[in-house]
Amino acid sequence: MAQLWGGRFTKETDQLVYNFNASITFDQKFYREDMEGSMAHVKMLAAVGILTERERDEILAGIEGILADVESGALEITSEYEDIHSFVEATLIDRIGDAGKKLHTGRSRNDQVALDMRLYTRKEIENLKGLVKDLLLVLHRLMKEHIDTYMPGFTHLQKAQPITLAHHFGAYMEMFKRDYDRLCDIHNRMNYCPLGSGALAGTTYPLDRNMTAQLLGFNGPTLNSMDSVSDRDYVIELLSAMSTIMMHLSRFSEEIIIWNSNEYRFVELDDAYSTGSSIMPQKKNPDIAELVRGKTGRVYGALMQILTTMKGIPLAYNKDMQEDKEFTFDAIDTVKGCLALFTGMIDTMTVNKDVMESSAKNGFTNATDAADYLVNHGVPFRDAHGIVGQLVLYCIDKNISLDDMTLEEYKAISPVFEEDIYDAISLKTCVEKRETIGAPSKAAMEQVIAINEKYINEI
Ligand code: ARG
Repeated sequence: MAQLWGGRFTKETDQLVYNFNASITFDQKFYREDMEGSMAHVKMLAAVGILTERERDEILAGIEGILADVESGALEITSEYEDIHSFVEATLIDRIGDAGKKLHTGRSRNDQVALDMRLYTRKEIENLKGLVKDLLLVLHRLMKEHIDTYMPGFTHLQKAQPITLAHHFGAYMEMFKRDYDRLCDIHNRMNYCPLGSGALAGTTYPLDRNMTAQLLGFNGPTLNSMDSVSDRDYVIELLSAMSTIMMHLSRFSEEIIIWNSNEYRFVELDDAYSTGSSIMPQKKNPDIAELVRGKTGRVYGALMQILTTMKGIPLAYNKDMQEDKEFTFDAIDTVKGCLALFTGMIDTMTVNKDVMESSAKNGFTNATDAADYLVNHGVPFRDAHGIVGQLVLYCIDKNISLDDMTLEEYKAISPVFEEDIYDAISLKTCVEKRETIGAPSKAAMEQVIAINEKYINEI
């Protein structure tokens, strides 16, 4: 048991209490951020005259040595220490002696851990942004490639109207662009430095909080020391943004699973991204998509956990807040893994254009356009809807599609139909006539693709 405190105690901590209280098994994940924060703190302490330059240099060299040894594996972070902060300070004192005892001047573990968590999550927000961008790049390529790939658009998982695959991918493009923007927003909002807030009420030392904020790449210091040590809003925001990313990935996964099924065959996942069955030799399963869908619950769980943990905490720091770490770290690693694998999966899958196109041709996806044809010839929409309903019924009975009906058959149901009905309800016409921005026609999609290209180039 290596603790930073003990002076006012007359008994050793019970071993079970020690284990229950300790966080070293998980907060060692931000050992680098902890040491970076300490180095900035020490530079500032020297700049305001609290440490001599010599003490500063000794401490800095000591921390750099610890960091290098941890990174190389020469020094192991063991559970003999209560937390990562104790590990660094105790090792420093071991290595450099008295100067090391001055490291914690004007600092509390409360502002220290608040800083470490911010630095760690800020770094991971950048990693997440990179992974979302990789996904945007793949979607952008797919959109350009499939601007002419016709497929049925669905509502209620029933064929509705024809669209293109570019249009379908474009919907996800919008979702992931919003996800990217959300990560940027969180970064901007959380990028203020809590260091110097002390335990809760600042310190009596003349700390230069602007200096540490600047050294650590923050926009400035946080403005209330109580809030600084007890704010975990950015963790909640990050988990919320990651939950939304997972919700999007999960919906997309669900579609890939359906599209990859034997019944649909719209796409075929690459062998490298599929798995087999131990008993059924014919199987090629979309396990990656299923796992992404499944892991969504895990990330939502982390969001619920931190919301619940935070809701009853009076100001300022309380130990409950140590619970901000494990699920958050797990969620970050989970989302990063899901993003990378999902991107690889859709990057390598084969699109069966012909199957998609013939699926769009069957299932009366052009029924709305047939009704629009009648409207354009003076029939009120509600009547047109009824007439096309009769056409559909007729086709179902004969097991044919609207395109297969002869003009006589059309005329038998409504004399308004002429030869140009075939062109009016062709797949190409159905798509190309929808040309307002946001719709699937090639012209509209090209505008959106250009906007997306600019967006991707600028992030
Ligand atoms: N391990 C603690 C945490 O993660 C560090 C802060 C400890 N502060 C304290 N007053 N016990 O929150």
